Amino acid sequence: MYSKEVDGRIPHNAFQLAWSNFQEELRALRESFRFDEYSSIAEANPARSALGRAVYGVGQVVVDGFGALDRALEKGQVLEPLRPRPMTVSVEPEDAQGAQLINECQEIRVKLKQLKLSNKAVWDREHAREKAGKGVKTPWFIKGVYLSLCYLLDFLFDNRPVQRFWFLETVARMPYFSYITMLHLYESFGWWRAGAELRKIHFAEEWNELHHLQIMESLGGDQLWFDRFAALHAAVVYYWILVALYVFSPELAYNFSELIEYHAVDTYGEFVDANEELLKSLPPPLVAAVYYRSPDLYMFDSFQTSQSVSNPRRPTCKSLYDVFRNICDDELEHVKTMRACQDSTVQQDIVSRREDGPRVGL
Ligand SMILES: [Fe+2]
Ligand SMILES: [Fe+2]
Repeated sequence: MYSKEVDGRIPHNAFQLAWSNFQEELRALRESFRFDEYSSIAEANPARSALGRAVYGVGQVVVDGFGALDRALEKGQVLEPLRPRPMTVSVEPEDAQGAQLINECQEIRVKLKQLKLSNKAVWDREHAREKAGKGVKTPWFIKGVYLSLCYLLDFLFDNRPVQRFWFLETVARMPYFSYITMLHLYESFGWWRAGAELRKIHFAEEWNELHHLQIMESLGGDQLWFDRFAALHAAVVYYWILVALYVFSPELAYNFSELIEYHAVDTYGEFVDANEELLKSLPPPLVAAVYYRSPDLYMFDSFQTSQSVSNPRRPTCKSLYDVFRNICDDELEHVKTMRACQDSTVQQDIVSRREDGPRVGL
């Protein structure tokens, strides 16, 4: 996003976009079976019981079956020939700097694979928070959807924390898309104009989540076809659920988001505590450094409605530990904003931030 070649480019028409995306993902789907991408998931989660081994056995048959079907379609010239993509980057022997860079990248990859997250520890944190009186009051049907989403995350991303975060961040932006959609719609109908400031806040929140997402992409969270398939489909479903919920009750829509944002706080909090040493030995991704240390932090300040304008949050960003700590703190700011949207205190926040803000001299 921050590279000069792609920044601000206008998209092609929807048909071209859909077609090129389909071609790219079809190739990725074929590769996932032919070169067995799923083995990396099995490697991270070795079967611990007879049932686990049986499930993996069935999975392997399915992968092999689709792989054979793909080969047959390729032979019949229905599909194009598939060649493995080159996995290594080579440098000239005299390019010492290039060789060092590759070595460093390899070391980083090895360390990233060692990062751990225990599902149980995340649940323990959530229960401890609820016991401490910081739970989110919510109706049972909202809690039911929330719990199913959490169990789905635990199941799909066990021992794959970076991929889990990438999924979470893909889905986490959707509520803000939904709120902005609805506020635009109400304004277009002429029903409700007071949402303009809210739209600005939701856009700044979405901008923040977008950067979380890009950080996870820079760490390789979106590399598997299956993860992209799961996250993007879940995101579209989630978007429409939130749109429908907002139609009937904006408070409930915000309440659902508060639950998810608190879950993110618990997950990231557990992750930084469990991997402190390793994270401190890793550098921050460029996108994180640009976002948190930019000279222009207007968007960063805009989503933190409960922070004071005169004493804004200015986090450091020297290691991957700082990055995850910052993300965790951002998520807590999202929780506060979502709560303020339910009890209408966001209105006071908007007014007081405006009054505290810089004045234009006359
Ligand atoms: Fe996030
Ligand atoms: Fe979030």
